[in-house]
Amino acid sequence: MEAPQIRFDDGAAYEEFMGKWSQLAGDIFLRWLDPATGWRWVDVGCGNGAFTEMLVERFAPVAVQGIDPSAEQIAYARERLAIGSVRFDVGDAMALPYADAAFDAAVMALVIFFVPDPAKAVAEMARVVRPGGSVSSYAWDILGGGFPFAMLQEEMAALGPPPLWPPSVEASRIETMRALWAGAGLVQIETREIAVTRTFADFDSFWKIAQTGPRLAPRLAAMAPGDLKLLKDRLRARVTPDAAGRITYGARANAIKGQVPA
Ligand SMILES: C[S@@+](CC[C@H](N)C(=O)[O-])C[C@H]1O[C@@H](n2cnc3c(N)ncnc32)[C@H](O)[C@@H]1O
Repeated sequence: MEAPQIRFDDGAAYEEFMGKWSQLAGDIFLRWLDPATGWRWVDVGCGNGAFTEMLVERFAPVAVQGIDPSAEQIAYARERLAIGSVRFDVGDAMALPYADAAFDAAVMALVIFFVPDPAKAVAEMARVVRPGGSVSSYAWDILGGGFPFAMLQEEMAALGPPPLWPPSVEASRIETMRALWAGAGLVQIETREIAVTRTFADFDSFWKIAQTGPRLAPRLAAMAPGDLKLLKDRLRARVTPDAAGRITYGARANAIKGQVPA
């Protein structure tokens, strides 16, 4: 059976659910990647442009091309970054509609585990980047418990519904990433972990945002009201608010960078 495509169709809701987490991890990732200014970038699986925005703000790129299968996310990204050097296409990581060696860098932020054939996607990134250029990615360490809403998944599983992993969850493991990068002929490969923390104004804000996840929302909506209340109580018991009622907790990603042979 063909692996299902994962769609994120609401740019504004995505911003709170994942965009803010993406930028927290993206900040550490980009300082580690340490790219030059003035590059031509392709941001594969750019979604609503949360990560693309960081490229634009920090590295004065001459051109940035974002691409994502969700027309709704792309519409949000186009409004967010309405500047001449940034373009967005609706399209798929496994068949990038760009010429060979068209970019200095290709990057995938929190995407690789959604792509049905990650090896094809990494090969496509390697194809569209010039010799000596950069191919990189970061992804939540889902199988290691690093997904920002892992706590919610764990408590749901305790009540019945097992976690619903994305189709290529194995690609979030650091060893699998290394094998994918090496398999695409990339060199100078390096990996690292990225740990981040996020603070929510209070438990209710966290609970409201947690329920907007594109894959979690329908599963939560299908739970019996009593189970949902139990789930909320169990989550509340797992987080300790500070004096102002805020709650803070962490997430962890795996990151990889490599180069197209010069
Ligand atoms: C968690 S979001 C990350 C978005 C953005 N890169 C960020 O850091 O905020 C995952 C994105 O992967 C996209 N996606 C899913 N399958 C894809 C595929 N086959 N090719 C490219 N993007 C894909 C989704 O549409 C979604 O926008």
